[in-house]
Amino acid sequence: MTTPDDAPPDQEVLRIDAGGWGWTWAADSDGRLHQVGLGLDGAGAAVEVDPVWYPHAHPAWGGPDPFRPPALRITHAEGTTTTRLRLDRVERQALGDDELVTVRTVDELLALRVAFRSRTHRYSGVLEQWIEIDHDEDGPVTLWDYDSIAPAFLVGPEAVVTQFGGAGWADEWAWTTERLTPGTKVLDSLGGIQPHLQRSPVLMLEPNGPAEEAAGDVIGCSIAWGGNTRFALDVRPRANDETRDLRLRAGANPLGAHYVLDPGTTFVTPTVAWTWSTGRGELSDRFHRWTRGRVLRDPDRTRPIVVNNWESTFFDFDEQRIVGLIDRAADVGADLFLLDDGWFGTSSPRDDDTAGLGDWDPDRRKLPEGLPALVDAAAGRGIRFGIWVEPEMVNPDSDLFRAHPDWVIRDRREPREHRNQLALDPLLEEVRDFEVSVVDRVLGGAPGTSYVKWDANRPVTDPGSSALAADRQSTAWVDWVHATWEVMQRIADGHPEVELMLCASGGGRTDHGTLRWFHEFWTSDNTDPVTRVRMQWACGHWFPASAMAAHVTQWGDRPLPFACAVALSGRFGFDLDLEALDDESLAVCRRAVAVARRTQDLVQHGRLVRLVSPVDGDDRGRAALGYTAPDRNRAVVFCFQLDEPSSDPPALVIPGLDPEVTYRIRATDLTSDPADLGTFTGADLAAGALGWRPRGSTTASILELTTSV
Ligand code: DGJ
Repeated sequence: MTTPDDAPPDQEVLRIDAGGWGWTWAADSDGRLHQVGLGLDGAGAAVEVDPVWYPHAHPAWGGPDPFRPPALRITHAEGTTTTRLRLDRVERQALGDDELVTVRTVDELLALRVAFRSRTHRYSGVLEQWIEIDHDEDGPVTLWDYDSIAPAFLVGPEAVVTQFGGAGWADEWAWTTERLTPGTKVLDSLGGIQPHLQRSPVLMLEPNGPAEEAAGDVIGCSIAWGGNTRFALDVRPRANDETRDLRLRAGANPLGAHYVLDPGTTFVTPTVAWTWSTGRGELSDRFHRWTRGRVLRDPDRTRPIVVNNWESTFFDFDEQRIVGLIDRAADVGADLFLLDDGWFGTSSPRDDDTAGLGDWDPDRRKLPEGLPALVDAAAGRGIRFGIWVEPEMVNPDSDLFRAHPDWVIRDRREPREHRNQLALDPLLEEVRDFEVSVVDRVLGGAPGTSYVKWDANRPVTDPGSSALAADRQSTAWVDWVHATWEVMQRIADGHPEVELMLCASGGGRTDHGTLRWFHEFWTSDNTDPVTRVRMQWACGHWFPASAMAAHVTQWGDRPLPFACAVALSGRFGFDLDLEALDDESLAVCRRAVAVARRTQDLVQHGRLVRLVSPVDGDDRGRAALGYTAPDRNRAVVFCFQLDEPSSDPPALVIPGLDPEVTYRIRATDLTSDPADLGTFTGADLAAGALGWRPRGSTTASILELTTSV
């Protein structure tokens, strides 16, 4: 037995420099991997004692710590329930400035291998990690737990964790911060197709108590997985010490989803992307850079100003009504008209949500000349046309279901309907081909359509697949994600110029894995601007504003100028009955479009600077955030008053500008054109030289800063 006083033996040390932080693993003399360093200087950690005294790198059931839940739990072919891995070899592959590091391990007794894979993105400082498991045992093995990462931390008594998710539909991105106490806290999601309606697969850990925007340790973690996810935080007290041991496990949620793995096949866990930053601002800088660099399609292309018809018509429209809305969309200066649900269905017309899903031919009662007439109407007004689809779903009242009742996700019981619909089973090859053909046919039938909103309005509630053998039904949860991603990839590859919006009853599918085939997502069906300020604040910690669709609607009956200002701080658009607006309201919309034209490059591609939080801190009745240009010559700041203002609101402190530079500031609340507020240096603004005197609740002020004095 080695003791801490022994000199470290000649061990293999593995360092991962993730860009500004890192971690170090080392093998002990038995070849077991330990985490010897993690954090800002984690890639340079000295191995001070025998690695055996450090926490295990990725504990498996049956390993040396039998009292804590493991990250890997496997039943081997001959029945053994324990796994003990030892280092086989380390492979390093250069990828430009980055690296793919593979740590290959083998079970000491059985013919099972686990490869720990890490891909750096040093430009952002976000590290991508996943594991791969394969074996040559004498039959299938069963994977019960298969977390992608399991780092160990020493945290202070004030450590907090922040989760993102509320009561389900229309409550996405609700912000909850809580102190970590001893025990295991599990933050998970279920439902398969729209798990993120329950909880976004991201987590913020602040090991020394709540951090600030520019100070404090922040660990941010995103499970890039379009299925059920699980974070587990296992906290243990330490004797005679206030600090605590924390093991964070993150990956696909294995509940009901144990994976039966045949010899010679490889199981790949979801990628978990994570970083260790100083301050929450840096966390967002990093996730935005990584999301742009590794996730989003066409991240540098400025997103269109979209007018959608859903909230103004629901299913009740005809060609004349839509052409009227297209005209108004062009009049207010939008770029694109998006026709939502309700345009299809022939023998089972889609007049409400009870019929038609699956039958993707235009309803000729509503649209006698089909979609091409609408594409032409939009083109005639100089704007683009987009269309809504929900290719994974079927109403029982549809020709598709009547022809293929066996295509749906179900077990042997009668499947339960949700929003009167069933989900198609993507593990069936003919279903995958059908789903691809839906988009191909819709786009092919209406050439010129250049935008697709991909919706998915039910979860999986009765898991089962006729494509899988009886003893493999539980693998469907994982296999469905890969099968759906295959469909999405085929569609994205087949239509490289078409912009795709991801939606699942709002933000039910907002993850960094699925987003790889999309340009943006529908953040939430909840468009009440007061709620949206808080949702977008939380969501903006992880995703750039270019991806966060934000439309002006009438939800919450808020003043239109305020609703427009809130939408302008995301990817701007309208979901309003533009034909019903009076002249004054139309003028507000036109002013908002003019602001979007001047500021959308900053909002979408600039650097987010959060100024006043509506979700934590003392005053949650207001919010302020800004976006600065890379050269800091321009910026836009949004100030939102959510509740009645206090009589003496604090000054607005705007950091992040060039202290030496003089900025001219023009401000508008959208009830009138921008007014000149004068000039200020960046240093003045960082010192709070600018007052903020809101006129009342649900008002906004948009400040445009330029150096052209
Ligand atoms: C849910 C989406 O979130 C809405 O925006 C809308 O597209 C409806 N589905 C249509 O059914």
